[in-house]
Amino acid sequence: MSDLHIRCADLTHIDAVLRFWHEAAEGTSISDDHDGVARLISRDPGALLLADRDGRLVGSVIAGFDGWRCSVYRLAVHPDCRRQGIATALMEAAEQRFLDLGGRRVDAMVLEANERAHHTWAAGGYQREDHWRRWVKPLTD
Ligand SMILES: CC(C)(COP(=O)(O)OP(=O)(O)OC[C@H]1O[C@@H](n2cnc3c(N)ncnc32)[C@H](O)[C@@H]1OP(=O)(O)O)[C@@H](O)C(=O)NCCC(=O)NCCS
Repeated sequence: MSDLHIRCADLTHIDAVLRFWHEAAEGTSISDDHDGVARLISRDPGALLLADRDGRLVGSVIAGFDGWRCSVYRLAVHPDCRRQGIATALMEAAEQRFLDLGGRRVDAMVLEANERAHHTWAAGGYQREDHWRRWVKPLTD
């Protein structure tokens, strides 16, 4: 993938990233707005990784490390560019970031119905664990 460039997002990329997620990502999050993405980038400037090809945004991943857990979110590739190894390259970049920071294991939350994602995570060496459920409590209205 020599023409693929992976870099960290900065605050100037927020609108493009939100548009990209609207087209390419699966599901939505409570943090899916300008303030939410700005907070992510401000708190951890290296966490949001973007893949560009020929100056076009074609992929994203959030590689969040809080000193304890390595969490991956928003792995997404533009529908026109799938099955070309872009998600694999983004996962490798995320894993390298975690290793550089001292991370030991990566967690990904994956929707049960998202079979394409199951194939992708499995191909990347990830194993499903069935003994967890997600427990949530919203902090805002
Ligand atoms: C899931 C997604 C990120 C994969 O991106 P991608 O760039 O197409 O993935 P890659 O090309 O790196 O694929 C790596 C491997 O994953 C597996 N894989 C990926 N997509 C697959 C599919 N549609 N069907 C079966 N296997 C698939 C294959 O083993 C593939 O290797 P191969 O192409 O050599 O057979 C992309 O389909 C996407 O953005 N989907 C919508 C968002 C989403 O669901 N994200 C995951 C959230 S948990």
